[in-house]
Amino acid sequence: MKKTILNHEYIKEEITTNQGKDFRYRWSHGATNKHMGDGMILYSLMYFFKPKISVCLGSGNGYIPRIMSKVNDDLEYEGFHKSGERPETYLVDAFNGVAGIPDWDTDSFFPTAFRVQVLKTTTEKAYYEYFIKRDIKIDMLWIDADHSYEGIKKDFDLYSQIISENGIIMIHDTDKKYVDNFIESENHEKYDLTGPSEWLRRFTISSHYDDYEVLNLFNYGIEKDFPSSTGVTILRKK
Ligand SMILES: C[S@@+](CC[C@H](N)C(=O)[O-])C[C@H]1O[C@@H](n2cnc3c(N)ncnc32)[C@H](O)[C@@H]1O
Repeated sequence: MKKTILNHEYIKEEITTNQGKDFRYRWSHGATNKHMGDGMILYSLMYFFKPKISVCLGSGNGYIPRIMSKVNDDLEYEGFHKSGERPETYLVDAFNGVAGIPDWDTDSFFPTAFRVQVLKTTTEKAYYEYFIKRDIKIDMLWIDADHSYEGIKKDFDLYSQIISENGIIMIHDTDKKYVDNFIESENHEKYDLTGPSEWLRRFTISSHYDDYEVLNLFNYGIEKDFPSSTGVTILRKK
């Protein structure tokens, strides 16, 4: 028996790689072949709170939704969620080239290996035409789609209305240091990434701030020899 609560072989094969192949944006989560980066924070929160409905808005690589799906499997294996209601993971991605291009498609490794419902549309359309129409309340939300200020604001303003009591919202790329130090390559990755940190700055001084418990996890550049998460902000309504 390998005495670890982490199976590093599995992490290396299917969680932080696609069967051994590194994927795009993995570094932004601070993940490597051996380390799950901010994915471990998501895993732990879900493991603890056992959400029934988890939603990821935007994912270039499927890293976050695959973790959501995996926690659900692990909890089911451990005997939770017995009431007949299987927990669900939704991924909303419009494949619109805004803030990045997904490196997966619906028949590729990630969506076939993990139980994830993919809504290939904009976050706004999914909100009105899917979640509102079905009266779905979200227990765990990860916001990572349009990274402009307006995009983040719209996603937060819409989806925060359908978060269940004690539900959690996580916003990626909120560390301003990451945006300030980001080096774009020629003809590639010229995306507006300023939105999450600017949204956070304005939210912090807004009247809504006091309605939430807020925890910022920034580690950009602390361990300079390793990838570091581009910042995650965790919010829960008081
Ligand atoms: C590439 S991710 C950002 C990188 C991210 N840090 C990650 O780990 O994957 C942004 C994703 O959001 C999607 N996207 C952008 N605007 C969107 C919108 N309005 N609705 C739905 N998806 C959107 C893009 O297709 C892209 O896949």
